[in-house]
Amino acid sequence: MSLDVNLLRETFERAKVENGGATALGLRFYERLFEKYPSVKPLFKTPPEEQHKKLMASVSAIVAAVEKPDVLVPYLHAMGIRHLEYKTENAHYPAVAENLLAVLSEHLSKEGNWTEEMKATWKAALEVVNGVMIEAADSPDKYKEELASKGFEPNGFKKNDPRPWVLTP
Ligand code: HEM
Repeated sequence: MSLDVNLLRETFERAKVENGGATALGLRFYERLFEKYPSVKPLFKTPPEEQHKKLMASVSAIVAAVEKPDVLVPYLHAMGIRHLEYKTENAHYPAVAENLLAVLSEHLSKEGNWTEEMKATWKAALEVVNGVMIEAADSPDKYKEELASKGFEPNGFKKNDPRPWVLTP
């Protein structure tokens, strides 16, 4: 696997400042997602103008915690289980990863470079994220105790926290 943590961080730092920053990247993510994969559009009830902020905060949290599996893994388990409520299917995950890779490539190519190494690192990271989310979505009952120990309900949400995607290690 070619997951280069430094490269992952550097590229995301660049993405946050180049070419309109995270807002432009996040908005483009949903624009392209709905163009390429129109069947997922009805699942989204929150408008892209709001939704993109959650996605970007979550990607940012994942990148920050990538070397802390004890923090990251339960966070991703909870997120995978929450996605069941959004009627997400396992087959959607590769599409979302493909879309994120494509928009990152577009975004970072405008002002700088997007290399094969960057692509390989992001692809590897997204495969891990997808795998861990899907694992929990497939067997939510297995993760009840782990989730409880991190303050999550069995459905992956948090009782008094409307922003469960924010990660506070
Ligand atoms: C890399 C994997 C993914 C990440 C990081 C991610 C991130 C997020 C975040 C942060 C939220 C906000 C709500 C919450 O945290 O519970 C969310 C909601 C949502 N996600 Fe994902 N997601 C991923 C994969 C997917 C996939 C594969 C689908 C399938 C289409 C999907 C569809 C949705 C939907 C429908 C919502 C609810 C939107 C609404 O409020 O209407 N996500 N996602």
